[in-house]
Amino acid sequence: MKPRRGDQTEAWGALAGHFEAHGRDFDIREAFARDPGRFDALTFDAPEVFADLSKNRIDTATLHFLLDLARETGVAERRDAMLRGDSINTTEGRAVLHTALRAPRGAGLHSDEVHHVLDTMLAYVETVRDTAVSGIRHIVNIGIGGSDLGPQMVVPALDAFTHPGLTLHFVSNVDGHDIAPVLRTLKPAETLFVIASKTFTTQETMANAHAAKAWFSAAGGTDTAKHFVATTTNVEAAAAFGITTTFGFWDWVGGRYSLWSAIGLPIALAVGADNFRALLAGAHAMDEHFAHAPAAQNLPLLLGLLDVWYRNFHAFTSRSIAPYHQGLKRLPAYLQQLEMESNGKRVDLDGNDLPYATSPVVWGEPGTNGQHAYFQMLHQGSDVIPVEFILVKHATHGTPALHGPLLAQLERQHAMLLANGLAQSQALMQGRTTDAALADAAPTASKTLDPLTLARHRTFPGNRPSTTLLLEQLTPRSLGALIALYEHRVFSSGAVWGINSFDQWGVELGKALCNDLLPRLHSGDASGLDASTAGLLKRLRA
Ligand code: F6P
Repeated sequence: MKPRRGDQTEAWGALAGHFEAHGRDFDIREAFARDPGRFDALTFDAPEVFADLSKNRIDTATLHFLLDLARETGVAERRDAMLRGDSINTTEGRAVLHTALRAPRGAGLHSDEVHHVLDTMLAYVETVRDTAVSGIRHIVNIGIGGSDLGPQMVVPALDAFTHPGLTLHFVSNVDGHDIAPVLRTLKPAETLFVIASKTFTTQETMANAHAAKAWFSAAGGTDTAKHFVATTTNVEAAAAFGITTTFGFWDWVGGRYSLWSAIGLPIALAVGADNFRALLAGAHAMDEHFAHAPAAQNLPLLLGLLDVWYRNFHAFTSRSIAPYHQGLKRLPAYLQQLEMESNGKRVDLDGNDLPYATSPVVWGEPGTNGQHAYFQMLHQGSDVIPVEFILVKHATHGTPALHGPLLAQLERQHAMLLANGLAQSQALMQGRTTDAALADAAPTASKTLDPLTLARHRTFPGNRPSTTLLLEQLTPRSLGALIALYEHRVFSSGAVWGINSFDQWGVELGKALCNDLLPRLHSGDASGLDASTAGLLKRLRA
């Protein structure tokens, strides 16, 4: 059967009917009461990740219709096309092969090139990590978007595995307030700059690279060749910039899918060759699951379908990410690019306007911090926002340096963290009735307000959906699997929507207009500008 766009399938109509009959008023609490096997039926094991989907507004019938949708839209065929290197990024005429970057030697496409760069890069990494010889203490990654967010997310996540004598810094913003405070702390002889840019033309990265170079010579730095390296597909441009050590990658690696390539150099510098290989191996395990697990057990596919169910049938506009692990503090930002740059599209593969919504807004903060900020809205606000909890069973701060009472205290705090995560998903689902609020004392509440009014303020509607992803421990392997899970989930929803998840034309217009405005900031020429832009330009120059 030829793959069809989501809305052109029979399953779409069936899902619309199912939503009217059972979806709109679906009550998760009632579903648990009806079906004692609900937890078992809606929990899934994938490599390194256990997923509880049971606190969502779905049941096995919903999944059945969603799997029909996946079949009719040809998600599996599209996946296979990606994995065999077809040019599925049609608007750029490129293959999409980040999976090849983590395939074992000899197993994936382009294996010789991939493993040659990997071996060379990891050999280099070990020379830098030999800090007694290299003298390097600080590594500054200069990149933006996909050349920043992956490493910036992974390095703190793997804090327990990082080299104790190396400090990693990430500079991305063209705003000099990003690089200036970093440079203030550095000494040229101890610093390695990694200029990370797939294209080696990105305005922000080139500007910061020039700032770093200017600082380096002004601060008495010598031997640029030792202190500047590049990670790029544009080796010639890096050479023209004066960089002689370059680790390359290929146009079939999308920016937001590139942490597995040479763009992962800062990760490898932080955690070492073996841990970087473990990160790749974890992702590869998830690739194998995505490629071979039956659809009804295929976790990335199921999560992608759940996203379609919520976005297109429930009309939920956002999803909140709540990693209950401080190391994952940058995961929401990383996922914003992964999901919103990939699936924030409004035309199908043939360029036709889509009649339905695509990417939700993805946002979040680590737990428990988010609880003391925006969780109020998640519990009692007027919007329903599905939440994704990421829980890690065992803490990784039990390094030899920690022992005795401090270790015991941190273990207690880890239990508090887990209890908080569980409690939030429970509270979102369970809610609290007005009667329960009436019966439950609130010591800090007004003594003069009538009890019923007060109880209404203290009522939680409940039935708010959440997914819990559970890892045993945050290790290079499990993190690799988790990231790949998200990549394939985004692929799956994008395939159902019939869009190109691998281009990013939406970033072009602003870039072009910026190129036009920059000289006007100097000249004051406002000809042809709209009145607002012209007025602001004038004030900025006054
Ligand atoms: O924001 C657009 C974008 O092209 C991203 O897709 C990419 O990750 C980022 O810019 C950085 O691009 P480059 O790695 O070429 O500097």
